[in-house]
Amino acid sequence: MQVNLSGRTALVTGSTQGIGAAIAAGLAHAGARVGINGRDREKVAATVAQLFAEAPGSDFVAVPADLSTQEGADRAVAQLPQIDVLVNNLGIFGAKPALEITDADWRRSFEVNVLAGVRLTRALLPGMMERGWGRIQYIASDSAVVIPAEMIHYGMSKSALLAVSRGFAKEAAGSGVTVNSVIAGPTHTVGVEDFVYELVDRDLPWDVAQRVFMREHRPQSLLQRLIEPEEIANMVVYLSSDQASATTGGALRVDGGYVDSILP
Ligand SMILES: NC(=O)c1ccc[n+]([C@@H]2O[C@H](COP(=O)([O-])OP(=O)(O)OC[C@H]3O[C@@H](n4cnc5c(N)ncnc54)[C@H](OP(=O)(O)O)[C@@H]3O)[C@@H](O)[C@H]2O)c1
Repeated sequence: MQVNLSGRTALVTGSTQGIGAAIAAGLAHAGARVGINGRDREKVAATVAQLFAEAPGSDFVAVPADLSTQEGADRAVAQLPQIDVLVNNLGIFGAKPALEITDADWRRSFEVNVLAGVRLTRALLPGMMERGWGRIQYIASDSAVVIPAEMIHYGMSKSALLAVSRGFAKEAAGSGVTVNSVIAGPTHTVGVEDFVYELVDRDLPWDVAQRVFMREHRPQSLLQRLIEPEEIANMVVYLSSDQASATTGGALRVDGGYVDSILP
């Protein structure tokens, strides 16, 4: 299957590192012009330069904006003339005992992980529907389904994304625009690598360390290794393609079998 996104413009939120950067690279590889977003203007510019160095000829646009505010969402949308593919990847997480999560923590999780994507959807979905083509995706998590006791505010926000995506898919019914969420499982990002080495022997080489971590701390994973960001990106690139035209209102799993269920 050849995915061809040339002529399409994508915005990937929170794409200066990790899963977002891999998604941006994947979409650009398929021919899309891709907006790179993060809060820090210099980090965004550095990511654009790095992605371009890795794939000369690709088309990246710097879209610095803090998407936790309406103002930031407006600024992001104004920086790209037309957006055909919106990947709501931005998400924050942090462990906190359940009874110590404050109102401010709950609100922050909701603002950044849910409302940021809702605002962009509200801004971009009407234009996509008018043009008769568009792709919107929300990067959810295994935590949407297997609520982690140590960060239920994060789990809540990711469960909410499944509802939001299903609801907007209904709004877009029959228009040629598809809306889906991707349930990502434990993924090899810088933050997660640090977390692994907090729990297993620091002297172990990475490949062994991650397998020990999975065996001892994530035994329900069928993959028994962390997922590479590119493996999440592959699903997102597919969902962004013309070929994925019959997949909408869904929650697609790239979780290495972590969620012990046949359906999400
Ligand atoms: N890593 C995993 O194992 C895993 C598993 C399942 C699901 N996920 C989900 O996958 C997504 C990406 O995770 P990740 O681990 O790759 O993320 P990450 O490495 O923590 O990167 C977060 C990105 O978001 C940007 N960002 C943070 N706050 C922002 C804001 N207010 N406005 C705009 N950009 C902002 C950051 O750049 P700046 O700090 O420069 O703004 C950075 O580019 C998240 O939704 C996460 O919940 C991750």
